[in-house]
Amino acid sequence: MMKTKAIVFDAYGTLFDVNSAAEKCKDKIGTKWEAFANFWRTTQLEYTWLRSLMKRHKNFWEVTEDSLDKSMRVFNINKSMKNELLNLYKILSPYPEVRGVLEHLKKKNFKLAILSNGNPDLLYKLVESNKLNNIFDDLFSIEEVKVYKPDSKVYEIPIKKYKVIANEITFLSANTWDVSGGGNFGYNSIWVNRSKSEFDILDYKPKNEISNLTQLLDIV
Ligand code: LAC
Repeated sequence: MMKTKAIVFDAYGTLFDVNSAAEKCKDKIGTKWEAFANFWRTTQLEYTWLRSLMKRHKNFWEVTEDSLDKSMRVFNINKSMKNELLNLYKILSPYPEVRGVLEHLKKKNFKLAILSNGNPDLLYKLVESNKLNNIFDDLFSIEEVKVYKPDSKVYEIPIKKYKVIANEITFLSANTWDVSGGGNFGYNSIWVNRSKSEFDILDYKPKNEISNLTQLLDIV
């Protein structure tokens, strides 16, 4: 394996818990909160892929709002909750091990970055609200290329900036299709398999799989 020159993380689902917005409202939403959160996430991603294929870009915040509108209709959730859910989405919680692992990697002087569908303001706010802003060297957003993951233009962003070759980047994502996108591009792509699922996507087998980010410390 080539030496890792930068460690690049996916944001949503990998560092930050996308279900945490709906979970914080579970008293109001009731037991369907989790199915609703999963539907919102799936719809949001479908919209990103459709927009990229149709070349009708809207930024991730707009797509998040559009997919929330649809999900609230499908799950019959009172419209008055919309702003609360959107505001909570801006400050999603990180998974429990994230801060400790990032601080450790930072001390080891790795270049650390996020590469995400999220638009720059949203990523900045997310990182800042969780007091992680001193950790990352860069917050790379697909807004630079205006096409969503897993288009290869997205995975080119960090290699251009860092002047490295693809397999000098260790890339972590919990989203199988993103692990596959990064891996097919040439990254050393690691799957963060938090829910012990099967890797079920496309013709790519991740070379490494970990169940949470703590295990990354044994690999790099
Ligand atoms: C992101 C989505 C894929 O952060 O989770 O890019």
